[in-house]
Amino acid sequence: MLTVSDLDLYYGDAQALDGVTLQVAAGQTTAIVGANGAGKTSLIRAIAGILKPARGSIRFKDHEIAGLPSHVVCDLGVGQVAEGRQIFPTLSIRENLEMGAVIPRARAGARQTYDRVLDLFPRLRERLEQAAGTLSGGEQQMLAIGRCLMGKPDLIMFDEPSLGLSPALVQELFRIIRALAAEGMTIILVEQNVAASLRIAQTAYVLENGRVVLSGTGEALLADPAVKQAYLGL
Ligand SMILES: Nc1ncnc2c1ncn2[C@@H]1O[C@H](COP(=O)(O)OP(=O)(O)O)[C@@H](O)[C@H]1O
Ligand SMILES: [Mg+2]
Repeated sequence: MLTVSDLDLYYGDAQALDGVTLQVAAGQTTAIVGANGAGKTSLIRAIAGILKPARGSIRFKDHEIAGLPSHVVCDLGVGQVAEGRQIFPTLSIRENLEMGAVIPRARAGARQTYDRVLDLFPRLRERLEQAAGTLSGGEQQMLAIGRCLMGKPDLIMFDEPSLGLSPALVQELFRIIRALAAEGMTIILVEQNVAASLRIAQTAYVLENGRVVLSGTGEALLADPAVKQAYLGL
């Protein structure tokens, strides 16, 4: 579904991505693992059309999307749940969800999508008219995921979704991600919770200093001595 080839990205003179090549198969979960500053968020933001790569290609379905504006990429079916829950705090939960469906691809059938999202997140259904800023951190993360789903993405990218959540909410979050995967959603998962993300992922890539240094099945990376030492504390 997605092929990233030889992607270079800079912030001014500082190179954040260096020849990144990876593939994301339809219906699968692909994990991207790496230390702080490795380039995971930069990669996601480049795919989402928020950052413009200096070189390389990003093919999504049949489109070359590198450098396209984010609303165009979004309307082609690339959704992202950004780091730090980018919800609109003064808008209600219902309004936040409606904002997710403003892109053209999402307008038809928005009502059914809305019902489906609320089925997935019953806690949101109970609080539809409440300002989103009054939700707990975990609920705001669920709202951010729900809003992304309102855009009917074919690919959904999660950037550190469990950051700052209690252990119980992390479990809940992984349950949701697994449920989306079971429905056939294509997922890119960036998670500090490396073991859990490798367990869900069919394929995983390790980024170091903006480069892919290792890739394989989630299972193979879980068993890899270098991964164990660097990311699993084993
Ligand atoms: N807005 C920015 N301006 C300049 N440098 C940045 C910016 N965002 C990230 N970087 C740098 O790019 C590199 C990759 O960062 P990032 O993609 O956020 O990594 P990760 O998400 O893996 O922690 C780091 O060296 C970081 O300091
Ligand atoms: Mg990051």
